[in-house]
Amino acid sequence: MSRFEKKTVVITGASRGIGAAIAKRFSQEGASLVVSANEESVHSVADEIKRDGGRAIAFVGDVTHKASVVALYDAAEAAFGSVDVSIQNAGVITIARIENMTEAEWDKVMAVNTKGVFLCAQEAISRMRKHKRGGRIISTASGQAREGFIFTPHYAASKMGVVGITQSLAKEVATEKITVNAFCPGIIETDMWAYNDHAWGKLLGDYAPGELMKEWVEGIPMKRAGTGEDVAGLVAFLASDDAAYITGQTINVDGGLIMS
Ligand SMILES: NC(=O)c1ccc[n+]([C@@H]2O[C@H](COP(=O)([O-])OP(=O)(O)OC[C@H]3O[C@@H](n4cnc5c(N)ncnc54)[C@H](O)[C@@H]3O)[C@@H](O)[C@H]2O)c1
Repeated sequence: MSRFEKKTVVITGASRGIGAAIAKRFSQEGASLVVSANEESVHSVADEIKRDGGRAIAFVGDVTHKASVVALYDAAEAAFGSVDVSIQNAGVITIARIENMTEAEWDKVMAVNTKGVFLCAQEAISRMRKHKRGGRIISTASGQAREGFIFTPHYAASKMGVVGITQSLAKEVATEKITVNAFCPGIIETDMWAYNDHAWGKLLGDYAPGELMKEWVEGIPMKRAGTGEDVAGLVAFLASDDAAYITGQTINVDGGLIMS
């Protein structure tokens, strides 16, 4: 399969977890990749892609700073000419009772998960408009964009914000062959989920490591946690020509955890 031959894909939060899995999937389907994260280890994802015969550059930057986001898309255009698909995936979470949640936690989660999506989408769309070749804007929301979970009001607000950004931008660029969509992973086995298991587990009871995850996975109709590859399949579809008439949508990829 080479659905994305001659396409350039920028993806944030690609040093590990869901983002790294999405990047590898696009590379397997022929895309040139710009993998970005706020940690140096993102270089090893680009190296792995290149070792497997793909094309990739790594960019270390912070999605909460406009100048860093501009530099990311500049680097993508310098390396590969244009940006066809922009995937806003960088995200952070903290878990705390309301009385212990700090203003700094609120600000950070909103800055990465919501402002970061806005800044990247803004930069990608302005460049897609210039090139007049259309494009795809795809952002990572969460099951928490459907229903807030306990002890994470900032995260729920930040991910519901991603849905709002998606709908508003989809309307603005609808006649320009640029689609704007988001997706909601459920329980996906990554570093973030390991933190969730530990932090929620401490507040919700005396859970041993892995126990809370096990209990929540039992509540998934498919009875298994998701993988980065499960998510990557949906994202590749949304980026493909087959999804040309889909815009402004937010799609769950969660084994049936939330049905909406
Ligand atoms: N794992 C899950 O169960 C789950 C469920 C729903 C939604 N999500 C969302 O999926 C996305 C990826 O999650 P994951 O589980 O792979 O997380 P992860 O913690 O494994 O990876 C997070 C990535 O975001 C990057 N990042 C964090 N802050 C950044 C910043 N300021 N600038 C640039 N990059 C930054 C990190 O470097 C890393 O690459 C996130 O948006 C997360 O909220 C995850």
